[in-house]
Amino acid sequence: MKAADAVAELTRDFTAAGFDSARLDARILVGQVLGLEPSLLFARGDSVIPPADLAKLRAFAQRHLAHEPVSRILGTREFYGLPFKVTPDTLDPRPDTETLVDAVLELRGTIEAPRILDLGTGTGCIPLAILRHWPDATATGIDIAPGAVAAAAENARTLGLDGRAQFQVGDWTAGLAGPYDIVVSNPPYIADGEYAGLAAEVRLYDPRAALTAGPDGLAAYRALLAPVARLLGPNGQVFLEIGAGQGDAVAILGAAAGFRLLARRRDLAGIERCLHFGV
Ligand SMILES: C[S@@+](CC[C@H](N)C(=O)[O-])C[C@H]1O[C@@H](n2cnc3c(N)ncnc32)[C@H](O)[C@@H]1O
Repeated sequence: MKAADAVAELTRDFTAAGFDSARLDARILVGQVLGLEPSLLFARGDSVIPPADLAKLRAFAQRHLAHEPVSRILGTREFYGLPFKVTPDTLDPRPDTETLVDAVLELRGTIEAPRILDLGTGTGCIPLAILRHWPDATATGIDIAPGAVAAAAENARTLGLDGRAQFQVGDWTAGLAGPYDIVVSNPPYIADGEYAGLAAEVRLYDPRAALTAGPDGLAAYRALLAPVARLLGPNGQVFLEIGAGQGDAVAILGAAAGFRLLARRRDLAGIERCLHFGV
C-alpha cells in the first residue's frame, strides 16, 4: 500500500469514529512507520509501506480507534517545543499547562539562579521547559509515582538538563527542606464525581492519581498550600494550574495559607488556568 492511500484509509476510519484531528493523526501514524516527518508525506505519498510496517500501522490504528491518544502510541508528546517521553505512569502533558511555564518565565531577570520546586511533576515537562529557557535556574521535581519520577529523569537526560534538574519520589512536600524561590504545580484537580464522565482518551490512558482530587477537586490545593508557604524563601512565588472555574476557590485557599494573590492568567482558550501567589 502507498503512503497516500494509507493516510486516506486511516483518515476515513478516524473520521467515522468521530475524531476531530483524523487526518493529522493518520499522517502522524503513517509517518511514524515510515520514519518520515508527517509534513514530508505530501511529497512522498508514493512511498510503498512494506508489509511488516503495514501490520504495525494497522495495529497503531486499532489502538487509536480504541481511543488511545497518538502521543501514547508514539510514547512521546511535544510540550513547549520539546519532546517528552510519556509512559502509563505519567499524565500526557497538555498545551494548557504551557500557560504556567509562560507565567514563570516572565520572572526572568528578576531572580538570579532561582531554585524551583515542581510538585506532581509527571514527565517533568514544567520544570524542564523552564530550565531550557532559564539557563541559571535549577529545579527539583516531586511525584508520588515512582514510574513518573523515572520518566522525568530520563526526559532530563534526553534534553541535556540533568545537570540542573533532579527528580525524587515524594508525597507533595514531605521531607523537603527548601528554601525555594519558585514553586510550581499542576496538581490533580478533577472532582471524583466527574471522573466517569471524562473522555475515554483521558479516563482510559491517564493515571487516575494524576487526575482526581477528592469530592470537589480541591484536595491537592488544600494539602499543598500551607506546607509550600513554609518552604519558600523571602520573595518566594507560587504558580498553580487550576481547572475551569476553580480560580476563586483556590484564591481563598491561598489567602488562608498566607499568600498574596499577584495575578490570574488565562490559557489560549480564554479559560482561567493559572494563579500566581507571592508571600
Ligand atoms: C495533573 S498531573 C501533572 C503532571 C505534570 N506536572 C504535567 O503538568 O503534565 C498531577 C501529578 O501529581 C502527582 N501526584 C498526585 N498525588 C501526589 C502526591 N500526593 N504527591 C506528589 N505527587 C502527586 C501525580 O502522580 C501526577 O503526576
